[in-house]
Amino acid sequence: MSGKGEPDASDVAARTNWLAEQLAHHSHLYYNLAAPLLSDSEFDKLWDELKQIDPQHPQLSKVGSDIDPGSRKVDHLFAMRSLDKATSDDEIQHFATETTLEAEAFLSQPKLDGSALSLEYRLGRLVRAATRGSGERGEDVTKNARRIPNIPENLGLKVDAHIRGEVVMPLAIFEVKYREISPNPRNLAAGALRQKHTEKGKASATDLLFQAYDVKFPTAEDRHPDSENPPQMKADSELLEWLSKTGIEPAPWQVHPDAASMISTTIEWKNQRSKYKFEIDGVVFKVDSLAKRELLGMTAHHPRWALAWKFPPEVASTVLLDIDWQTGRTGTVTPVARLAPQMVGGVTVENATLHNVGELDRLGIKIGDKVRLVRR
Ligand code: IVH
Repeated sequence: MSGKGEPDASDVAARTNWLAEQLAHHSHLYYNLAAPLLSDSEFDKLWDELKQIDPQHPQLSKVGSDIDPGSRKVDHLFAMRSLDKATSDDEIQHFATETTLEAEAFLSQPKLDGSALSLEYRLGRLVRAATRGSGERGEDVTKNARRIPNIPENLGLKVDAHIRGEVVMPLAIFEVKYREISPNPRNLAAGALRQKHTEKGKASATDLLFQAYDVKFPTAEDRHPDSENPPQMKADSELLEWLSKTGIEPAPWQVHPDAASMISTTIEWKNQRSKYKFEIDGVVFKVDSLAKRELLGMTAHHPRWALAWKFPPEVASTVLLDIDWQTGRTGTVTPVARLAPQMVGGVTVENATLHNVGELDRLGIKIGDKVRLVRR
């Protein structure tokens, strides 16, 4: 390993740079080209030496090489499926009956309205992050995912794992920094993940958070030979517990014995929706037992062991009091409807953007008109 151009340990600065360059080069060979030149122990030796001389060196929190988002497609080792949808209590009851042969537990999580992300950890280090894309194939967004504050570089265990979750923008950040730019935190989150450079008028990945909902472990032949065996768990709730110990933040979850308990959870989430820190559009229910999931299997579109219950669209009517013109930071002028205050979907609405003059003409609305509000 030692050779031409390798600085001596006495020249600390040169040695540090050389070590960092070696690590970047050899991780690129290993992770991106699958053509390593060093054995794992040789690689670890370089790593340990750099860690000893400069424990804060940025290269130590970087593995793999970070290419521009969108410039490479990623085949998901495990497909990222959709969910079967429901809107009524009857459908929850039906789901419980269909999936349960004997007394069995269910798990619920809020259905977060963001952008799905798959994080690939090798030997516990984050090597790749990809969007859902077609479900079979997504886009490499590793560079931006590394900037999301609650995504750990290292799980603290030498394990290979594909961790899935939703990338969301906290509503508190949306309100103060972005409301004027986009009406929708979900679009901002998706845009921030996929952008190549930090662009003006776009959201930054540092303003996003990751909320996990699933983890998959590659089989022995797809694992790194030095990786630890995956944890042996019986239920999803145990996996989420395990994830939180690795530094990953799962979306909050609850375990339910039956349909009645699931239905009452939909009411609780509906009541706290407007106060919750992220935008949510429903509740996801899943069979908790992993063995039972295996038995239930999948359709081409979704797993039979999960159901996405969506909030009903919330509708109310009110009166148009006035139309104001609002000038944004960027100089664009937008018509804004001033409305008689009205509760819809747990929030009081007094203003609504009318987007642009064209929209005003199209709607042909006049002050004093009765208008219908839909919260979607
Ligand atoms: S579980 C097999 N849990 O909803 C699919 N999905 O409509 C496992 N989503 O693509 C997904 N919150 O991006 C699950 N708590 C949650 C979720 C959640 C949001 C998204 C997810 C999925 C989409 C399907």
